[in-house]
Parts: sequence; structure tokens; C-alpha cells
Amino acid sequence: MEARELRQKYLDFFKEKGHAVLPSAPLLPENDPTVLFTTAGMHPLVPYLMGEKHPDGTRLTSFQKCIRTGDIDEVGDDTHLTFFEMLGNWSLGDYFKEDAIKFSFEFLTSKKWLGIPKEKLSISVFKGDDDAPPDHQATDIWKSLGIPEHRIVYLPKSDNWWGPAGQTGPCGPDTEMFFWVGKGKPGKESNPETDETNWVEIWNDVFMQYDKQADGTFKPLKQKNVDTGMGLERTAAILQGKKTVYDTELFEPILKKIATLSKFSYKEKTTSYRIIADHLRAATMMAGDGVKPSNLDQGYVMRRLIRRAIRHGKLIGIEQSFTHIIAKKIIHIMSDIYPELRHEEAILITMKEEEEQFQKTINQGLREFEKLLKGFEIAFEKTGKKISEISGKQAFRLYDTYGFPIEMTEELGNEHGLSTDHKGFDEAFKAHQELSRADKGTFKGGLQDHSWETTRLHTATHLLHSALMKVLGDHAKQRGSNITAQRLRFDFSHPDKMTDEQIAAVEKYVNDAIASDQPVTMKVLPLEEAKKSGAIGLFEQKYGDQVKVYDMGPWSKETCGGPHVEHLGQLSHFKITKEQSIGAGLRRIKAVLTD
Ligand code: ALA
Repeated sequence: MEARELRQKYLDFFKEKGHAVLPSAPLLPENDPTVLFTTAGMHPLVPYLMGEKHPDGTRLTSFQKCIRTGDIDEVGDDTHLTFFEMLGNWSLGDYFKEDAIKFSFEFLTSKKWLGIPKEKLSISVFKGDDDAPPDHQATDIWKSLGIPEHRIVYLPKSDNWWGPAGQTGPCGPDTEMFFWVGKGKPGKESNPETDETNWVEIWNDVFMQYDKQADGTFKPLKQKNVDTGMGLERTAAILQGKKTVYDTELFEPILKKIATLSKFSYKEKTTSYRIIADHLRAATMMAGDGVKPSNLDQGYVMRRLIRRAIRHGKLIGIEQSFTHIIAKKIIHIMSDIYPELRHEEAILITMKEEEEQFQKTINQGLREFEKLLKGFEIAFEKTGKKISEISGKQAFRLYDTYGFPIEMTEELGNEHGLSTDHKGFDEAFKAHQELSRADKGTFKGGLQDHSWETTRLHTATHLLHSALMKVLGDHAKQRGSNITAQRLRFDFSHPDKMTDEQIAAVEKYVNDAIASDQPVTMKVLPLEEAKKSGAIGLFEQKYGDQVKVYDMGPWSKETCGGPHVEHLGQLSHFKITKEQSIGAGLRRIKAVLTD
């Protein structure tokens, strides 16, 4: 079964069970403050898991493009990917444990759907601890469906608890489904705990009923939800009897293309081939969502991926500019599912330009690196002391002069048994330029913190968006948004530095809106009607037929998931603290609310 068929079957199954089908949300979380990328199918749904009403109802299913960079160093092995697709189904206070498990079981085992023999399945459930009891109920449900007790194992929080993705937010115990990939039939004693390599996890049903607080305690959520996730690539590989995701039709054509450019075969240089395929898949999907390589946030992650792919291209003897050639192949495979890839030309240019820029310096940089190694050897000969670390200053020079992301220097260092002083690098970086990387925590991914402060800043973000379009023109549209409890950050299109007058005019617009104390109302409208009503928003990235429109009278009308304050007076006072360029045609504003 090809991935395409699996994706469709999954959505069809849940549609039959009364779920609304949502297409993938963008990789850049919209109005989600503390993350760089969407990391799970539940991500775009956080407000609804927290109790906001979803316009499409209480049963939802989707396929979601995701980026996780936490395991980037593992990419190249059989299973890890930075970009992947997740299939999922959700109950927003609708069905709970029993139906969730029954749906999963039916989809996996019924001949009409995946038809997996139940002998090839095993299950894990939550073992229980001080925060929540053991999940005997899940066990009973699985047993009632014919899964024998010896195939059900109880595991602790580290295995069978999902979320929150950040410090706080929705989470709960889960039950995971494993597929037998071993030879012959599994023995009676075999389960995911005793026989880890032969059981591969394919699906996770999370019973989201807690909201983790900043102090580490767990409060019950307003509603009990179900959140599930099935990795598309991995499950497709298993159903096809393939050993790795790279052997599936999602990757094979990409690897073949790489082979036409390389001096080595896939067999000879498996890891480099895989890194190139994975990283360029992620970078191409990012480009499809409008990300451009830069030294900040999402752009930095993208740059890192492309440059690492280029370096591995060198390792396998690719001499020409190649990232755009691979990207074209990737677009060819993915674009009927992800229509945002139709901007093929722009995506290929982004790749080409980044590669050209990096090419200019990489060879020099690699020579510089060799010199560094030589220097270490000479020092060793002279003093008898072995240098085992690349200093922060040396790493920063490679970054600043030759465009080597610190992670690349670390990787190169590792290949020669050297560590890198990352902390020293950060210090050198900070000393050199005052670029704010306080946002570093967001690399790990996290979830929206629905505190009162972020809700107020979220409403202020809508006013700012309108104000910018009024003062600068209709082109000044949102390109990104990120909110912490302390400040909002807003990226938008505009070619020039804003003048002091423009900044003052934007602040005045927002503060006039606050002074009017206009009530904030919300309506659910069909997408087309919302557009006609003059609401602004990222329509091309919207999913579903119905959207929520937040109306702030004459000041702002915008589609969004919420939540917002009830009336504008609750924002007190708005102030812009920074306005800067973050790339060609892109500006960034940071602003705060004061009393
Ligand atoms: N949110 C859960 C996961 O990502 C389903 O595994």
C-alpha cells in the first residue's frame, strides 16, 4: 500500500465515523507564540483542545506536515526524519477512551481497511504514577477486542504519556500500538518492552485530559479530548514490508536522482544520501510555506538543513549545484497533496540562491578547517598536549566568515574526535552582534501558553496587523507571529525601514482602538463569506470550510482560532520596542503592553 493510499484510507475511515476532514495546516504555526514549526497534528488544534469551539465540530481528522529537529543528528539511520507527515483523529470533548481504541482497532485490523492480523499487534498503556492512575480501562478495552493480556504492557510516563509539547498545556496518558516486524510469529513472551527491535510503534492514542501548569502540577482540562498520531512514512514502510522509510516510493525517486549526480552509490554512502534526501525534503516544504534561509528562527533551521545537505553532497562527490534539482523531484512527488508547492519557480530559486551563496565560501571554509586541524597537530607535537576542543572563537570565525552553521562545525569536529565549545560560540556570537536569540528555547518546540498576558498580546497583534496595513499599505501582510507572556513579535512584508512617523502612527492606531474599548466578537462563517466580509487573514493557508472571524468593530476583522480578550480596553497601552529587517522585503516588530 503506497503512502498515498494509506493517507486516503485513514481520512475516509474517520470521515465514515463522522469526522470532518481538515487538510494540513502550514508548517509555520499561525498565531502560535512559542514554536518555530508545527510538530504534531494536534498543534494547530491547541486552542480547541483547550476548550475553544472548532468551526467544523467535535470530531476532526487530518494529515499534517510536521518538522521536528530534535533528532536531527539521528537522521541517516533507518527511522529518523526531520520532515514527516502525521495522520490523526481528534475528539474535542466528544468520544473518549472506548471509541478511540475501537476506532484504532477497526482501522488497523478490518479487512476493509488495513487488514493487519491482530497477532501482529501489541499494545502499551500507561503504568500510573503520582499524577495519574494506571490505565486499566485501556487494557480492558483492548482485551475485549481480542488482544491477549500478554501482548499488553504497562510503561511509565517516559513512554506512555504525551505532551505538553512545551512547558505547559494539554497532555495525558496514551496507549500505543506496535506492529510486528520480526521473523515468523512473535513468541508468547514477546512484547514492545522485552523485544524492542521487533515491535515498531505505528500509532499513538492520547487521552488528553490534563493541562500541565507552570509549577509542574496537572489540572483537569475543561473537556476530555482524544488526540492521535500515526506517522505516515513509517507506517507505509511497514505495511509494504520495507525495512526503512527510504525504501518507499516517497524517497526512492529522490535517492535515484541523487545517484545520477554522485560519484558513489547509495550502498556506499547510505547516510549522506539519506541526509540529503531528508533535509532537502524538509527545506523544500519550508520553502513552500514561504520560509527563506536566514540567520534567525525558522530561516536559520532551513539554512542549517540546506547547508548540511550541501556538505554531504560534497562528501559523495557532487560537484555541481544540486539542491534545486533534488527539490524539483520532491515537488514532483508531493505537490498534488500540498498545493502550496505549486510556486515551484520561487522554491527552486530560493534553493539555488542559498546554494550559490554557500558555495562561494564553503571550499575556503573547509580549507580553513583543515588548517585548524593542522594547527592542533603542530601544537600537539610541540607541547605534547592534545587539543580536543574547537574553541567558541574558532567556531564563530567559521560561522561569520564562511557561513558554517555551528552544528556543521560540531559535526565536522566530531568526525575528527573533537568537541566544540558551543557556549563559547554563543558568547562570541552575542558579543559580535546584538541579534536576539532569546528565542532559542523555541527550537525545541513548545505550545501556546494561554495565559492572560498572551491572550492580551494576541489581540494586540490583530490590531497591529490592521494598523500596519493602514499606515504602510495593503502589502504589509503578516508573515509570522510569535507571542510570549512578555512581548509580541510580528513579521510582515515591507521593503523599507519604517520611519519614526510611521511607527508613531501605528502605535496611535492601536492605542486609539484600545481607548475606544470596543467589544470583541466572534462569528463562524464559511470561508468565502469571511473573505467577502473584508476579514484579513492567511486565507490560502486556511483549512476547512468554516472559519472563525474575530471582529473588533472599525479596528480589525481577522480570521483566527482565538482566544482573545472581551473588550479592547483590557489591553491598557501598546508600545513598539523594536523594528528591524529580517531579510529582503521582510520586517519584524516587537511590542509590549504596559499599564
Ligand atoms: N500528539 C501525539 C503524537 O504526536 C498523538 O504522538
